[in-house]
Amino acid sequence: MTLRESDAFVFFGATGDLAHKKIFPALYAMVHRGGPEIPIIGIARAGWTLQDLVARARDSVQHSGDYEPECFAKLVSRLRYVDGDYADPSTFARLREALNGAQRPIHYLAIPPSLFASVVQGLAASGCAADARVIVEKPFGRDLATAEALDRTLHAVFPESSIFRIDHYLGKEAVQNLLYFRFANTFLEPIWNRQYVKDVQLTMAESFGVQGRGAFYEEVGAIRDVVQNHLLQVIALLAMDPPVGHEPEAMQAEKLRLFRAMRPLEPRDVVRGQFRGYRDEPGVAPDSQVETYAALRLHIDTWRWADVPFYIRTGKNLPITATEVVVNLKTPPLAIFGGDDSMPANHFRLRLSPEVVIATGALVKRNGEEMHGEPVELVARHQTVSEKSPYERLLGDAIRGDTSLFTQDDCVEAAWRVVEPVLRDPMPVVDYEPGSWGPNAARAVVDCGGSWHDPRPERPAPP
Ligand code: BG6
Repeated sequence: MTLRESDAFVFFGATGDLAHKKIFPALYAMVHRGGPEIPIIGIARAGWTLQDLVARARDSVQHSGDYEPECFAKLVSRLRYVDGDYADPSTFARLREALNGAQRPIHYLAIPPSLFASVVQGLAASGCAADARVIVEKPFGRDLATAEALDRTLHAVFPESSIFRIDHYLGKEAVQNLLYFRFANTFLEPIWNRQYVKDVQLTMAESFGVQGRGAFYEEVGAIRDVVQNHLLQVIALLAMDPPVGHEPEAMQAEKLRLFRAMRPLEPRDVVRGQFRGYRDEPGVAPDSQVETYAALRLHIDTWRWADVPFYIRTGKNLPITATEVVVNLKTPPLAIFGGDDSMPANHFRLRLSPEVVIATGALVKRNGEEMHGEPVELVARHQTVSEKSPYERLLGDAIRGDTSLFTQDDCVEAAWRVVEPVLRDPMPVVDYEPGSWGPNAARAVVDCGGSWHDPRPERPAPP
């Protein structure tokens, strides 16, 4: 399939936080690599001029730590700015002028979802939506009903194939490594199922709190913020069947089947925690019941995964910042060398952040007469830097029209169906000490005598 590149990049919310933190550094990095040679048009209602936007872009790129004046000048030569109210048709008339005859623009809505409807209608009425693509950013709604409403707003103007929903986790090098490791090797597939896998654990730990985003966080909480999207996406890639074919649609189809097989969570599958001190954060209610931590047990009702628990845990103010998957295998059927309960069974460990690590845990014999063993890890991949940031990767793919790393409406809606029962009917939050691994109550989530695997600081890569 030949992909048609967009011939202009438009971003709404050009003066906002997302543009400053992610969009300018990504555009700069793309220009640094020689592309994309297309006009870049920022839009906002801020009373700014192009010079103001250039100053903001420079500040953003300098903050990201990679500023070369020549390269920045190239970015600036492509940059235009339109200032205006999104409800005012003249804003879109000026956008049309700035597009200067571009036939296939891509519009990035880096704005709150409450503004989507007027922007999408403004684009359609002004003719700027014809043959265009649109990029939207999570949160994709705050429950199933709002996600469906959001999709209706977008679909009124854009077909699903032209909508690019960014979940930046899918742009991470480590997440693509996971997918590659699963499907480029033969040895995994025969054991990647309920016959051999005891359980799967995914921990996304952050050693910082809500970082001044208390008011935002009060509206979401950990389950909406990262479980419904980033973490369920990772589980989908870990657990889905191999796609049939190379087209992005083949991957989407398998992911969707997997999302639909996830059993909706029940309150007893979930422990919600809140770090002590959260209620003193600016913008947070003194009696807030919003979770900054969640531990949950997920079931996937397929022949491959029936009865294999998938444990997911995330939290703010935990001891470390790291995201890690551990796939624990069952023990061998007989203990030929005598039972030693302290010996771990085999596992696969996939570190997704901050490093990229793929390792296998095995047992080997210790030196000496006795048949006694010790655990070792065979490291297949260990890398600390990614070539591209997730935003550079995803914006580049969207401009080229490659949908592989974006989420589609059905998957987003299916993921809401999984978490919705516990959002609708939440158990009270349990508090935990900042810097701890969360409330003790979370131990009960990992039943059958198991325990949580706590990610540790990664040892340096072997030379
Ligand atoms: C964002 C969440 O989507 O992902 C944040 O809103 C979270 O709360 C962040 O900290 C984590 O992303 P990363 O790439 O820094 O691990």
